[in-house]
Amino acid sequence: MSRRKIVAGNWKMNLDLTEAAEWLAEVDAGLQSDNCDVLVFPSFILIGDLMDMYEGEQILFGAQNCSNKESGAFTGEVSAAQLASVGVEYVIIGHSERRDHFGETNQMLKEKIQRALKNELTPIFCCGEPFEMRNENKQQEFVKQQLEESLLGFSAAAMAEIIIAYEPVWAIGTGLNATPEQAQEMHAFMRSQIAAKYSEDLAQQIRILYGGSCKPDNAKELFSCADVDGGLIGGSSLMAKDFLAIINKIG
Ligand code: PGA
Repeated sequence: MSRRKIVAGNWKMNLDLTEAAEWLAEVDAGLQSDNCDVLVFPSFILIGDLMDMYEGEQILFGAQNCSNKESGAFTGEVSAAQLASVGVEYVIIGHSERRDHFGETNQMLKEKIQRALKNELTPIFCCGEPFEMRNENKQQEFVKQQLEESLLGFSAAAMAEIIIAYEPVWAIGTGLNATPEQAQEMHAFMRSQIAAKYSEDLAQQIRILYGGSCKPDNAKELFSCADVDGGLIGGSSLMAKDFLAIINKIG
């Protein structure tokens, strides 16, 4: 089965409106072929304006987070329904920075996925082990628990709508990427967990991205692994030329 690859840029809390508009124009002008899905995740405040100004078709927009609550007195939060109402199609859920800095638990992430799906947003569910777990060779145990507690309780139909990103915490923003062997091993493991819970067919359909210091000079070897379906790119997504260089590594 061939899965269409994705290159997704997670800007985190970077770029103002002017910089973001320049990025959008440059990336759109530089896209050479329709070789993959190109996604960008700006800060909430910028998404509506960027979507309004974008005249192309290839770049798709997502949010970096959504609330686990439906609506109500949650000052500062943004709901999945609000995102959907402005035309957002994707939402990152469970990024390690949300888990670490904002106390997001596996249970909360499950609720966020529920909200996203209910509002027809495609969740990109992030998981991955911290350095200590990798050091003790417990990375599979750790990721298995994240999958079980947030994801594997959903129906097969819901699961089919979800994209996963394997993001080892020790690789995020550190310049130290997982080797292609480490990424492939974990992606295959995650696929095997999905196959065991649902079916081999479903496991083969799900797209699993790699994230963590993915850049132009390592993207090609990471993306050529059998179970790696593209990347979630942080630092290297901020400069249009680097992001385009990564997109061009998709075979
Ligand atoms: P990085 O971040 O590419 O800067 O390591 C990836 C991410 O956090 O999604």
